[in-house]
Amino acid sequence: MVSSEVKKKSKAFYVRMKFSNNNRHGRTQFYRNFKYLVCFFLSGYLFTSFLITATNKTTSLSKTTALHRKSTIASRALFESSYSKANHDLLKDLKVYIYELPSKYNNDWLSNERCSKHLFASEVAIHRALLGADVRTFDPYDADFFFVPVYVSCNFSTVNGFPAIGHARSLISSAVELISSSLPFWNRSRGSDHVFVASHDFGSCFHTLEDVAVADGVPEILKNSIILQTFGVQYDHPCQAVKNVVIPPYIPPESVRSTIEKWPLDGRRDIFAFFRGKMEVHPKNVSGRFYSKAVRTKIWSTFNNDRRFYLRRNRFAGYQSEIVRSVFCLCPLGWAPWSPRLVESLALGCVPVIIADGIRLPFPEAVPWPDISLTVAENDVGELGKILQHVAKTNLTAIQKNIWDPTIRRSLLFHDPIQPGDATWQVLHALARELGRSHSRLRSPVSSQ
Ligand SMILES: *[C@@H]1O[C@H](CO)[C@@H](O)[C@H](O)[C@H]1NC(C)=O
Ligand SMILES: *[C@@H]1O[C@H](CO)[C@@H](O)[C@H](O)[C@H]1NC(C)=O
Ligand SMILES: *[C@@H]1O[C@H](CO)[C@@H](O)[C@H](O)[C@H]1NC(C)=O
Ligand SMILES: *[C@@H]1O[C@H](CO)[C@@H](O)[C@H](O)[C@H]1NC(C)=O
Repeated sequence: MVSSEVKKKSKAFYVRMKFSNNNRHGRTQFYRNFKYLVCFFLSGYLFTSFLITATNKTTSLSKTTALHRKSTIASRALFESSYSKANHDLLKDLKVYIYELPSKYNNDWLSNERCSKHLFASEVAIHRALLGADVRTFDPYDADFFFVPVYVSCNFSTVNGFPAIGHARSLISSAVELISSSLPFWNRSRGSDHVFVASHDFGSCFHTLEDVAVADGVPEILKNSIILQTFGVQYDHPCQAVKNVVIPPYIPPESVRSTIEKWPLDGRRDIFAFFRGKMEVHPKNVSGRFYSKAVRTKIWSTFNNDRRFYLRRNRFAGYQSEIVRSVFCLCPLGWAPWSPRLVESLALGCVPVIIADGIRLPFPEAVPWPDISLTVAENDVGELGKILQHVAKTNLTAIQKNIWDPTIRRSLLFHDPIQPGDATWQVLHALARELGRSHSRLRSPVSSQ
């Protein structure tokens, strides 16, 4: 039961906290100045001219985008509305409350250092960025959204080092039980203003194999909520049957920075087409499915002896130095369509060649995917040599120029603290737009049940 008496009291308490913690006006001012500083710094840092080119990119290069045609996206994606980039003040009125959960839900996992660095680590990165964000409110009565920081991808198996996420559903349920029994906000909206991260293969289905993921579906308890997930496709799929924002996989910004310091983006690119990763020569049938739908096998068998292709099947920690030397970087699907290579190749100036039919890419409002990547149908991988050769002869220079726009790199990386335009900032914008759409629904009054 939440009486209005209790509400008033806690409101007063929170207002006091807010007073001491959060000088909103001052911080907004700081944020604005900071924004300009960062913009100035970045544009000076690399390719000042590309910033200007990029502003006009849509006029010159958006005609040949048949492969990226707009299809009806059968999901409840939050990113599909039209939105004016001029509206930079969208975040000014947004308020996000971050639950403080016992450490077994999040910080305990950080004892393994990999937890905050591997490709699923956006769950950690977004949490950290929000803790220091201007949109953070300490008064839950004032909040538009509630962030629930549960880390589920950090349980690395001692056998093969892969994350084991079998516990994800129970850990999340337990967190929801805790917040819904101790505070009124979950019950108030049935979780619809609550935000979770699901950065694993099949996102909100919390399983690495598609058939199991599909059979399990989105946990009942999350079905009303908003999920930030790496998984996204343009067709109906049970693992996006929930309000969602497609986010990029996590690549540590420090690793990108140190690679670029050693190998500048405009340096020599002596590798024509690059791929390093799992390529099974004889893929196994795992409950009716083959890894990468056998696309990677086809790439290996077709181009292994082709001098234009630099293909490696073993792991190598220094692979970023190879990306930065490459013209084209292949990004074929794995079990799921998305791949960390999408972010790494763009951040390191290599043209991503996306081979994952129907993939839905992160932040289409901010990232002009058709201008900065190539899409090759899974069925056409046999033709990769010809396709890439053709692009190299025609529009490669234009694509590269678009890629080297530093705003692209920024929008796909999670920084701490948040940088204007970076990945967390894009997430907040998606939330702000959602708020604009459903303000009245989200602000229903606290009831006693
Ligand atoms: C971590 O994963 C293992 C499987 O590798 C599982 O047995 C264990 O319960 C998980 N840990 C937690 C805390 O859920
Ligand atoms: C929210 O609803 C659940 C289930 O109806 C109930 O057990 C819980 O006490 C409620 N929480 C609050 C804070 O009232
Ligand atoms: C893969 O295995 C499934 C059973 O799990 C079987 O039904 C299917 O025919 C197999 N597919 C191929 C191509 O071997
Ligand atoms: C470059 O050319 C390819 C193949 O003709 C085409 O699919 C792609 O959309 C073009 N990209 C840009 C940015 O012009």
